[in-house]
Amino acid sequence: MPPPELPTPAPDGVADIHFDAQDRASLYRVLHARRDMRHFLPGQAVPPQVLSRLLQAAHSAPSVGLMQPWRLIRIEDPALREGIARLVDAERQATAVALQERSAEFLALKVEGVRECAELLVAVLAPDDGTLFGRRTMPRDMALCSAACAIQNLWLAARAENLGMGWVSLFDPVQLGQLLQLPAGAQAIAVLCLGPVPAFYARPMLELQDWRQGRPLAEMVATDRWPG
Ligand SMILES: Cc1cc2nc3c(=O)[nH]c(=O)nc-3n(C[C@H](O)[C@H](O)[C@H](O)COP(=O)(O)O)c2cc1C
Repeated sequence: MPPPELPTPAPDGVADIHFDAQDRASLYRVLHARRDMRHFLPGQAVPPQVLSRLLQAAHSAPSVGLMQPWRLIRIEDPALREGIARLVDAERQATAVALQERSAEFLALKVEGVRECAELLVAVLAPDDGTLFGRRTMPRDMALCSAACAIQNLWLAARAENLGMGWVSLFDPVQLGQLLQLPAGAQAIAVLCLGPVPAFYARPMLELQDWRQGRPLAEMVATDRWPG
């Protein structure tokens, strides 16, 4: 039997790259310098070629069964941006009520930059296309994880372009779906604020503002059974 043919390398020749120490250092620097950003420089723009690189980065994400369940909607209409900002404001108030004794502390946090960021994108989980490979036991979770991979790619690529990105999940998905005229079965999962920032936070803003401290890696890694 002849050996099975190898897949044709990608036309742009990216199939077999050897990364050197400098490449690795850059990647780790981006990973560690990425932050969820909520402060943006107003009145800025993201150059079209940069935006296109970012969208391509998102679209290069892995996905279950190559399902690619992400859709990215770029918000250009100022009235639509304002509508989204109002949905976020409403959910911020509802969250404050639900938080009870931490309500005032929460309201003092900046939790989004919808009105001032240069670019506003909404990431949408597409209607289920019936992909079965890898999804028989956890269909929605695996689609959602795939869409999150695309968002993380975008986040990291934005940081490498020296642009900030903030993932905003404070919204009612049904109302946002109506605003964006999403089809049945589609769900907005992230409002993504993107653009130049005055400065990147040195640590997660929730840590800097004493909302919560991140836990060390050692508490998250275990061998053979659940840690603890
Ligand atoms: C799924 C998801 C939803 C999030 N939603 C919000 C949000 O609505 N508002 C906000 O201020 N930050 C939001 N964040 C950002 C987190 O607060 C942030 O990632 C975390 O505090 C760690 O900070 P870092 O991303 O700078 O490391 C979200 C992050 C993720 C992954």
